[in-house]
Amino acid sequence: MSGSAPVRHWVVIPAAGSGSRMGAEVPKQYLTLGGETVLAHTLRRFVGHSAITGMVVVLAPGDPYWSAIDPSLRAAVETVDGGAERADSVRCGMAALTRRAADHDWVLVHDAARPCLRRDDLDRLLTTLADDPVGGILAVPTGDTLKRAAAGIITATVPRTDLWHAQTPQMFRFDVLRTALADAGEVTDEAMAVERVGHAVRLVEGHADNLKITRPEDLALAAWYLARAEKEARCVSVTV
Ligand code: C5P
Repeated sequence: MSGSAPVRHWVVIPAAGSGSRMGAEVPKQYLTLGGETVLAHTLRRFVGHSAITGMVVVLAPGDPYWSAIDPSLRAAVETVDGGAERADSVRCGMAALTRRAADHDWVLVHDAARPCLRRDDLDRLLTTLADDPVGGILAVPTGDTLKRAAAGIITATVPRTDLWHAQTPQMFRFDVLRTALADAGEVTDEAMAVERVGHAVRLVEGHADNLKITRPEDLALAAWYLARAEKEARCVSVTV
């Protein structure tokens, strides 16, 4: 670490998935939500944020849809090709930052398919973890009773106390995440890689509306959350 150098925040958006569980013709990050793609909404959560120094969007090689994204959003980010699994794509995004990011800088990894991230949740993640040596993630406590099953039959009820739904952004010191991902093997999120190398990963409570679009019914719900957020923003700007 370079002593008094200011700590910067970088964002990596993995957007190289095919979204096969949606059963749609286009990958889910390019489905339309209220007149814009899911990915454009997601980028707007970060572009122009005063704490963010730079962004990398990880695309599928040969992605034919990116060029239709709003040029002002495209101009605000760097793009790189991703890999076969989400963790491979995140590694590609991290590699693109290697020359620019310092070890102690923060990197926030956020799914392209989470367009409804609240600004105050993002800001709370940044401020809560500001002095942490490792980092943490947005998450929400589990409200449902969880069942383990085999062949459609319940084999156990999993006590929900202490269970959380992991979300993104997942925010880690650059060197911590780079090292953890290098050793991680197959992981489903960044926290899992960082946990595996023995670091303490913090949970910052967010909101359930930061949903990941996974199934067709998620799209309508995301559209409703975005419309509500826009309406609230209009009310605030009228009353200020
Ligand atoms: O498929 P899943 O919902 O887990 O994908 C989460 C995020 O990771 C999505 O934004 C998706 O585009 C991205 N992803 C990726 N590269 C892959 C697979 C998924 O960037 N190979």
